[in-house]
This record gives sequence, structure tokens and C-alpha cells, in this order.
Amino acid sequence: MADTRTATLIIDGKSYDLPMRSPTAGPDVVDIGKLYAQAGVFTHDPGFTSTSSCDSSITFIDGDKGELLHRGYPIDQLAEKSHFLEVCYLLLYGELPSSTELETFEHTITHHTMIHEQMHNFFRGFRRDAHPMATMVGVVGAMSAFYHDSTDVNDPRQREIASHRLIAKMPTIAAMAYKYSIGQPFVYPRNDIDYAANFLRMCFAVPAEEYKVDPVLARAMDRIFTLHADHEQNASTSTVRLASSSGANPFACIAAGIACLWGPAHGGANQACLEMLREIGSTNRIPEFIERAKDKNDPFRLMGFGHRVYKNFDPRAKVMKQSADEVLDLLGIENNPTLQVAKELERIALEDEYFIEKKLYPNVDFYSGIILDAMGFPTSMFTPIFAVARTVGWVSQWKEMIADPALKIGRPRQLYTGATTRDYVEIENR
Ligand code: SDX
Repeated sequence: MADTRTATLIIDGKSYDLPMRSPTAGPDVVDIGKLYAQAGVFTHDPGFTSTSSCDSSITFIDGDKGELLHRGYPIDQLAEKSHFLEVCYLLLYGELPSSTELETFEHTITHHTMIHEQMHNFFRGFRRDAHPMATMVGVVGAMSAFYHDSTDVNDPRQREIASHRLIAKMPTIAAMAYKYSIGQPFVYPRNDIDYAANFLRMCFAVPAEEYKVDPVLARAMDRIFTLHADHEQNASTSTVRLASSSGANPFACIAAGIACLWGPAHGGANQACLEMLREIGSTNRIPEFIERAKDKNDPFRLMGFGHRVYKNFDPRAKVMKQSADEVLDLLGIENNPTLQVAKELERIALEDEYFIEKKLYPNVDFYSGIILDAMGFPTSMFTPIFAVARTVGWVSQWKEMIADPALKIGRPRQLYTGATTRDYVEIENR
């Protein structure tokens, strides 16, 4: 039933009725689309802390309950019972696939994993010590120079091919960025192993000997991909949506998302968190860092802690913590000092008044780095792995937006605080 409620705004004694809309879950919204035309005022919300930017049916987060749903399915159930490519299908198409649909989808993704051979030269233009995220931004953006037949955003079939190509090729590109950074030859993907195992093999195999992927590590890798797949309108997804609203090609828009994800306040936090845990080094130094995190004059923040939406635990962090215990036990790294520091840091922080009052809990980045480090990845590969996983979220949100007939270019306004009109002054009179 259409919502007939309105919110009344009174400005200088004049009333303006704004339509209200109700979601299937989460807060109601006040539609301010016509406010400027009616009242000549803007709303102002620089960090978008109270702003809904779009209609979406893909992912829902209840920050108070610590709940994350992908097309209605809780993340902890998907992490336990599903696998990454099935979650990709769910995010892209809205429903869990039948066995035939899943088989077809997995075959399609598997047969898009190679990249154009000439792109190998593109990597060689970078310094070996380039951060893999810099390489990924460049190479993914360059995909639009190689895949012309899937850049027309108005053609649904081309949109689908571009989505499949991006999901399929991101692990290959990330693995190549890693291999290039350590001076080892690129390893081609194989069609006879699954997505996560392929990624591990492309990162860690060498031509000199056979490489057998440990199935438990492949399962842990797959789960890490699932836990990072999508997350409502986070900064990088909003970047992809805004870039796409101009009609830019999907490869350029995903490159913009990768660039945004790199920031330490966002996807770069997993690298920053492990480096912080290593800097802390031992549990007896934790109080020193807790005090620094609380000190307003110190820019230091506890990396891997806090979240704009979760004001209770991040359900992904809970699953990640269990996975960290399993993987490290399996690898025989029982008393991993970094994991001990992380667990003690979490315990102390969650008992500290500052973190309780500000509702700061471990987020997805707090434990992920410990698992990736134990698997043999350098910290510089943590955010590229986040980007590989989040690509399906970015392309799913992009597809949802582009298919919306009401699509308009995103063009925010501002609160202007600069100089008002003034005449030019010749240099001799200044
Ligand atoms: C991701 O949006 C998403 O969904 C992102 C993500 C996804 O899947 O896409 O979940 C992935 O980016 C997770 C977040 C990774 N980032 C970090 O771990 C970096 C450390 N965290 C902070 O930078 C911060 O918590 C943010 C950026 C995550 C959230 O910042 P907000 O929502 O803008 O909150 P805020 O900065 O206004 O903080 C509120 C208060 C502040 O104190 P006051 O100014 O009110 O006194 O809490 C304090 C902050 O100083 N605070 C912290 C803190 N995080 C917030 N204090 C110490 N350590 C921290 N980590």
C-alpha cells in the first residue's frame, strides 16, 4: 500500500509537507527531492550520516542488532552453508540459484578468468614496489581499453558480460599484481579448480613445481570472499554508484571503487590493523595504545574498530574470529602472538568506558588480516583481496542502479562559505 504519511517542515513560519516512505526493513525516509523547489533550501549532511542515497534491495544492515542480510539471507548462514560464487549469483540476480543455474554461472565465471594477453605488458610499466592497489586501479581501469564489447551500459547483455568479466578477472589481476611485486612469473588460472583455490594457486604456485591447494585454506579464502562481498551504500559502493550515474563504463567505475576502498578508514583498514597489532607487539603494550586511541589530540585510532552503521558487533567479525582460530590451529600456529594481542585488545577495549560509550566494536577488518597473514599474504595484499570480494557487490549495486528508469546523474549541492561577488583587482593595485 502506497505510503500517504508526510513530514512537515516549518521554516520561518511556513510549512512544507514532505512525503514519507517506508522500507521493508530499517528506518523510514523523508523524501526531500522537491524541498529545494518548494522551500529554496538544501539539507546538509556531509558524511551522509542521516541520508539515504537510493532504493536498493540487495543488502540490509541492522546496526543495532548486528545483522547483515544479503537478499534477506543472514551473513552467518551464507558463510557457513553457501560459497562465494553462489553468493555472487544471489547478489547479482536476487535469488539462490537452482543447481543448473549455479552450474551455468560457475562455468561462465570460470571461462572468463583469463585476461587479454596484452594486458600483461601493462603490469610491466609499474615499479616492482608499487602497492598492488595502485596496480589494480590502473589495470582495472584499462580493461575498458580491451573489452569494448561490454562497455555499452544501455545494453543489458553487455552489462551482464561486464559483470561476469569483472567478477572472474579480479582474482587474476590481484594475483598478477602480487606476483609482479615479488618478481615471480604470472600464473594462469585453471578451469579445473574452484574460484578461491584458483586465486591461492595463482598467488602461491611457481612454474618450477606442482602446487596443491590446501582445501581448508581454500575454504577459509572462500569464506573471506563471502564476508566481504557487499555492504549497502559504503564509501566505495557509493563511489561506484556516483561514477556510474554519469554513464561511465563499468570498468572505469569499478576502478573508482577500488581507489576509494584503498583508504585506511575503509578497506585499507585490514592492512593498517595488522600493522598496528604488530606495532603493539605484546599484550603489555595494549594499555598504551588504548590511551592513544582515546586521546583527542592523537590522530591514532584503533584500526579494525568502529563502524558507521554497526553500533553492536559486526557479524562478519564474529565469523572471521572463528575462522582465524580454525586456520591458525590447522597451520599449527597455536599461540600466534598477533592473534593473542588481537584477542586481548578486543577484550580490554570492550570493557573500556570510552569504547562502550561510543559503541565501538571490532569490524570486518579486525581479524581478517591475521588469517591472510597466516596464509602467507603480505599486508599489501589485504586490501586487494577485499577488492576482489567486493567487486560482486559493486557490480550488483551498479546493475541495480543502471537498470532503474528513474536514474539521474548524482549532483549534490553545498553550503557555500566562500567570498561573495567582488571585482577583479589589477596586480599593481593589490
Ligand atoms: C569498513 O561503511 C561500511 O560498511 C564499510 C565496511 C564495508 O564492508 O564496506 O564495513 C568496511 O570500512 C570497515 C571500517 C574499517 N575502518 C577502520 O577500522 C578504521 C578505524 N575506524 C574508524 O576510522 C571509524 O570507526 C570509522 C571510519 C569506521 C567510522 O567512522 P564514523 O562513523 O565517521 O564515526 P566517527 O569517526 O564519527 O567516530 C565516532 C566517535 C568519534 O569520537 P567523537 O568525535 O564522537 O568524540 O568514535 C571515535 C571517534 O573519534 N572513534 C574511534 C574509532 N572509531 C571511531 N576512536 C578510536 N578508535 C576508533 N577505531
